[in-house]
Amino acid sequence: MRRTLLWTIAIAAAAAIGITALLINIFERKQEGRQTYFRVVELTDDIEDPAVWGKNFPLQYDDYRKTVDQQRTRYGGSEALPHTPTNADPRVVVSQSKLQEDPRLKRMWLGYPFAADFREERGHAYMLDDQRYTRRVTDFPQPGTCLNCHASMVAAYRRAGGGDLTRGFEAINQKKYMEAKEFVKHPVACIDCHDPRTMQLRITRPAFVEAMQVLKASQGVKDYNLARDATAQEMRSYVCGQCHVEYYFKGAEKRLTYPWHKGLKVENILAYYDEAGHKDFLHQETGAPVLKAQHPEFELYNQGIHARSGVACADCHMPYKREGGLKISDHHVASPMLNVNRACQGCHHFPEQEMKDRVEQTQTRFWNARNLAMNALMDLIDDLKNAREAGRGDGELAQARDFQRKAQFYLDFVEAENSTGFHAGGEALRILQESVNFSRQGQLALRPASR
Ligand code: HEC
Ligand code: HEC
Ligand code: HEC
Ligand code: HEC
Ligand code: HEC
Repeated sequence: MRRTLLWTIAIAAAAAIGITALLINIFERKQEGRQTYFRVVELTDDIEDPAVWGKNFPLQYDDYRKTVDQQRTRYGGSEALPHTPTNADPRVVVSQSKLQEDPRLKRMWLGYPFAADFREERGHAYMLDDQRYTRRVTDFPQPGTCLNCHASMVAAYRRAGGGDLTRGFEAINQKKYMEAKEFVKHPVACIDCHDPRTMQLRITRPAFVEAMQVLKASQGVKDYNLARDATAQEMRSYVCGQCHVEYYFKGAEKRLTYPWHKGLKVENILAYYDEAGHKDFLHQETGAPVLKAQHPEFELYNQGIHARSGVACADCHMPYKREGGLKISDHHVASPMLNVNRACQGCHHFPEQEMKDRVEQTQTRFWNARNLAMNALMDLIDDLKNAREAGRGDGELAQARDFQRKAQFYLDFVEAENSTGFHAGGEALRILQESVNFSRQGQLALRPASR
């Protein structure tokens, strides 16, 4: 009897302490949420210069400017290499060439601008210059569409569209790159992710809005309206998903399109391209109608355990930090391996080195599998090239060429993805296994016996 009473009191006391702790916690968060700031300037949709926004939000602006930093991690980050400026390319620092690191990449893309120049990506501060001066732009004609993900576009689209963002998007897509470039001044800036009046996150790229509509429709959701239906946590990934995605230019209007009509997985995307009859180029050595995948971070992340658990891009790439009494989001967007303490250890209570080791273990497994898939693809290209040189006709080569298209797209999908497999380790290995199989099946299809 007495025991029960004591227990009841003890539990009540513990609950009271718990509730007090919770209240203090909520109170603290409210305080943090109410981050008062000095409104030095009245921000509007016409102010695109981040330095002006920085007058109201100096802490975020300071971190944002740190995206000029370059630092290598085991598999990511980037190296700052000195570059002798020329008229064609006045950059004084570039990042390392991926084509030099792995010449097989060049062979995979023979017949396409990527075989001329492809470098390690670096911080947001460089996006406009790196695009303007890549040989893919200086030596090949490109449309204004390229700018969508390489510049601050809100004000530019409005200017080009007579006040209408979507009309401006359509107009700039169709201009020549060098003409379209005149509309832009800055790399991605505050205005591209934030509403100037409320500072709420917002989506400013029509291609992403349209893609989410077709994606949701493919999942049976009718009338998906991103501005209305996206949760605050989803927005912390969607702002990044506007650019870190696979894309192509649709039709004569060069409309920027994300191929999510059947879903986000590699086979869904390939099926969409197959149905649309789309190819990026004919492979120079084999004549296969192949595709080039581009940075599908959003797509691969969505197949991983973190997306499944509701963890957003910003949780790892823009983690919270304290500055004085304030809790702010780190606007120095970079590799989380340079910031494991804040990027991971808020959720995972293992030592920093252990978290790093876990990432590198996933990445090393991935890298080895990626190299096997790359070798298999080179073998298929060898065989196709030989068969072609031996005079075998298009009809006889068609099946093997289709296997090349598949093998290459699967491999490129995870190669072009920039986490070296981390964003979805199991899925990335599955894709590489399929790729090896496609390459080997392509070789078999060329055997005399199977003719
Ligand atoms: C659970 C944490 C986590 C989440 C969530 C996450 N990432 Fe990553 N990301 C990583 C890690 C770890 C790496 C590997 C970094 C390295 O190798 O240096 C990485 C690498 C990258 C890279 C290459 C960076 C470099 O320095 O080479 C990009 C770009 C990227 N992620 C974008 C995204 C985008 C976009 C999203 C959301 C769609 C996302 N990430 C979600 C942890 C995360
Ligand atoms: C859908 C958004 C998007 C579009 C459209 C886009 N890019 Fe990018 N680009 C990115 C992202 C994200 C990165 C960083 C990740 C990476 O390099 O894989 C990048 C990186 C780059 C880089 C630096 C790394 C490299 O590849 O050497 C260059 C140069 C570049 N893009 C050129 C172009 C050109 C030229 C076009 C038009 C043909 C273009 N981009 C269109 C999103 C885009
Ligand atoms: C307007 C398009 C755009 C948006 C929005 C965008 N990125 Fe990027 N991101 C790029 C481009 C382009 C590059 C490559 C720049 C270069 O290499 O010059 C890049 C590079 C990166 C890198 C490599 C940095 C490094 O130091 O190596 C990371 C990590 C990254 N982005 C993550 C994110 C995350 C997380 C978000 C959302 C919070 C995001 N990006 C939003 C276009 C974008
Ligand atoms: C690529 C997208 C992106 C860009 C560019 C960007 N931000 Fe943010 N910003 C975010 C995200 C994501 C958050 C977290 C918001 C949330 O969780 O609701 C954030 C949060 C904020 C907040 C709320 C307080 C905090 O730190 O969490 C302020 C203020 C802010 N940003 C200011 C700026 C300023 C100023 C610039 C330009 C110098 C800028 N942002 C550029 C994505 C961006
Ligand atoms: C917002 C919380 C959060 C953050 C931040 C976070 N994680 Fe996780 N992580 C999770 C959750 C949730 C899981 C799923 C497993 C679970 O439920 O315990 C997970 C799983 C993992 C796994 C196991 C993956 C697997 O395939 O089973 C690894 C490894 C991991 N995280 C590494 C990291 C690293 C490295 C970072 C920092 C770059 C990071 N996480 C950041 C919440 C987080």
